[in-house]
Amino acid sequence: MLRGKHILLGVTGSIAAYKAAVLIRLLVKEGAEVRVVMTPLAKEFITPLTLATLSRHPILVDFFDPEDGRWNSHISLGEWADAYLIAPATANTLAKMAGGVADNLLLTTYLSARCPVFVSPAMDLDMYAHVATQENLGKLRRRNVSIIEPEEGELASGLVGKGRMAEPEKIVEALQRWFSGQKKRGLSGKRLMVTAGPTREAIDPVRYISNHSSGKMGYALAEELAARGAEVFLVTGPTQLSVKDGIHRIDVVSAQEMYERACEIFPETDGAIMCAAVADYTPAEVSDRKIKKDDGSWALELRPTHDIAAELGKNKGSRLLVGFALETDHEHSHAHAKLERKRFDFIVLNSLRDAGAGFGVDTNKITILERNGSETAYPLKSKRETAVDIVDKIENYLLSPDSRPSE
Ligand code: PMT
Repeated sequence: MLRGKHILLGVTGSIAAYKAAVLIRLLVKEGAEVRVVMTPLAKEFITPLTLATLSRHPILVDFFDPEDGRWNSHISLGEWADAYLIAPATANTLAKMAGGVADNLLLTTYLSARCPVFVSPAMDLDMYAHVATQENLGKLRRRNVSIIEPEEGELASGLVGKGRMAEPEKIVEALQRWFSGQKKRGLSGKRLMVTAGPTREAIDPVRYISNHSSGKMGYALAEELAARGAEVFLVTGPTQLSVKDGIHRIDVVSAQEMYERACEIFPETDGAIMCAAVADYTPAEVSDRKIKKDDGSWALELRPTHDIAAELGKNKGSRLLVGFALETDHEHSHAHAKLERKRFDFIVLNSLRDAGAGFGVDTNKITILERNGSETAYPLKSKRETAVDIVDKIENYLLSPDSRPSE
């Protein structure tokens, strides 16, 4: 949830500042990029060297570098951050934040930050309980600052009570919860279609041609899109899977049925993700009786099915169209050809040559190929996690249309 997120950590002068080191380590482990701004007093409690080493960035304390006069811009720090976390936050810093005081870099950054702000108070129990502190926290809460409640326990003073800074793990969880809530809202108002599973092409009343698709990848995508607030239309071939409430499930059997339903639904959506393993050929004729066995060989005549994705691509307009390529050889050139031919915005390549990828299994290993030539390879992950990676890309394309490479 925190992968790639920019977390600006503000550290103030409290004995709990030592926990900032653990906090940075956890955030970096979760994949976040962390930059640190400290109040001058915080340096007395933990050295900038420690925090710089852990965060892999120089620590910012002053408005400008005393050596060369370089300006430390609080505005660009605030713009860089996806979240500003002040931990530990002393009673003094909370009071200054509530009052709009701007006498250090940490505070000016707070005043100019446009990102969500979190504070993790740390102080003695009486300071925390004091009406002034509580009023300040109330003011900050009303301004949408998230307060990560301190814990009860032994305090630096030797007293026992509420005021201990929350443990770093709890703070990281609070950030994760917030970002997951954000993600959920990211696609609200968007309508997306997902095709999933195999199709079955009848030969006679008892036999059919199909493939090994279980539907797992497509259903994981549908669930991730729905979790982020999208209205999802899942056009699915026969599978053993069930879907969560809130996803519109449209069951189909054959490629022709999938084609008809997909063509009906697509114009009403903001885009489609074509994950189904659709039969490319279907029997030219379907016998209405069971075909009887005889001793000779038997040739079955097949005719091509509609290429659903290619058909949707013809009239996609500004809609997003995401394809899959399931390959066994010449993976990249085949995927590129499909990206072009079917007018996908991007294509997700999975190869049956990679162990743990493709049909049936709970994992997948994908590469996303985009129209601008960029290719991003992901390691083997669960299909649920793979869906998160794909939907991250979809969200980017839908929410920042400018980032979408033109055809
Ligand atoms: O269902 P699982 O067991 O979880 O397995 C997942 C998966 C392997 C099926 C999935 O990850 C995947 O790769 N799906 C696409 C399979 C496929 O048919 O790929 P393709 O390379 O043959 O087709 C290219 C694209 O065109 C696909 O987006 C496909 O949905 C679409 N297509 C293909 C043929 C057709 N007649 N109509 C289509 O729309």
